[in-house]
Amino acid sequence: MQDLNGKRVVVTGGSEGLGLAMVEALAASGAHVTALARDRVKLAAAERVGAAVVAGDATDAAVMNSIVGDEAPDVLILNAGARLPMKPIDEQSWEEFSTHWNTDVKAGLVGIQAALKVPMTSGGRILIMSSGASMVLSVPRIEPESLRLSGGYVGAKRMLWFMAHSANTVSRERGLKLHFQVLMPSQLMPDTTLGHLVAAGYAELEGVSAEEHVMQRYGSIMRPADFGQRVTELIADPRYASGVAYGFRANAAIMPLDA
Ligand SMILES: NC(=O)c1ccc[n+]([C@@H]2O[C@H](COP(=O)([O-])OP(=O)(O)OC[C@H]3O[C@@H](n4cnc5c(N)ncnc54)[C@H](OP(=O)(O)O)[C@@H]3O)[C@@H](O)[C@H]2O)c1
Repeated sequence: MQDLNGKRVVVTGGSEGLGLAMVEALAASGAHVTALARDRVKLAAAERVGAAVVAGDATDAAVMNSIVGDEAPDVLILNAGARLPMKPIDEQSWEEFSTHWNTDVKAGLVGIQAALKVPMTSGGRILIMSSGASMVLSVPRIEPESLRLSGGYVGAKRMLWFMAHSANTVSRERGLKLHFQVLMPSQLMPDTTLGHLVAAGYAELEGVSAEEHVMQRYGSIMRPADFGQRVTELIADPRYASGVAYGFRANAAIMPLDA
């Protein structure tokens, strides 16, 4: 296991939910963590566990270029993401449908470009937050019906997976020695605002609670703190240093999905 003491880590969307859970776990392991999010007030939660904070928009190239330049991270976690529309396809405006393209994919592109162009220090790792949902119609098979209220989310999260490969190619061609990897939480976590919103949307159709929906669909509940711990393990354990995509489920080891 690599010692994370003093490692420099930037987490976008680090003020709540999974981002905050990663900030907490990494700070507890001795890393020097900086959390970025738009709402300065909510960032106080990251400050309380000893993280430095920056209020800014992860889709803004100037913000991401300066955080990569100023913080010189060893690890950049591109986690910021939008909430889901939770409406059937015929009720979504284009703005609602494309929200994950304008936030998650744009922030992914801007973050990848900052890492490649500033550039990040040689040997750096960039972890991009995708989702198990990006494996719909793929293997392991997820039924599309179970994501029918999610708008453009599935495609946006799949896009981020592909973008990690494109970025690795550029890094190899330019000898930058940066490694782009994709995080795939493979079950809904109802303790985050986003996860609860999604679980509650499907639960309402089924006449159950959000937690009951998650238990019925996945057979377990994964807590954000557990996820934060797993990502810390992924960063510290050299066995996970070279793969491109990793899945995370409650009560299971980290799953290599794309070596
Ligand atoms: N929760 C789950 O079950 C689950 C499962 C699979 C994948 N994911 C993915 O994991 C990531 C985090 O999910 P979550 O459940 O923790 O979400 P969340 O509770 O909604 O938190 C989102 C975080 O992102 C920040 N954010 C949003 N837009 C931003 C922007 N443009 N610039 C900077 N920060 C921004 C928010 O802060 P501000 O609003 O203050 O900026 C907040 O800190 C997302 O990419 C999501 O798609 C989540």
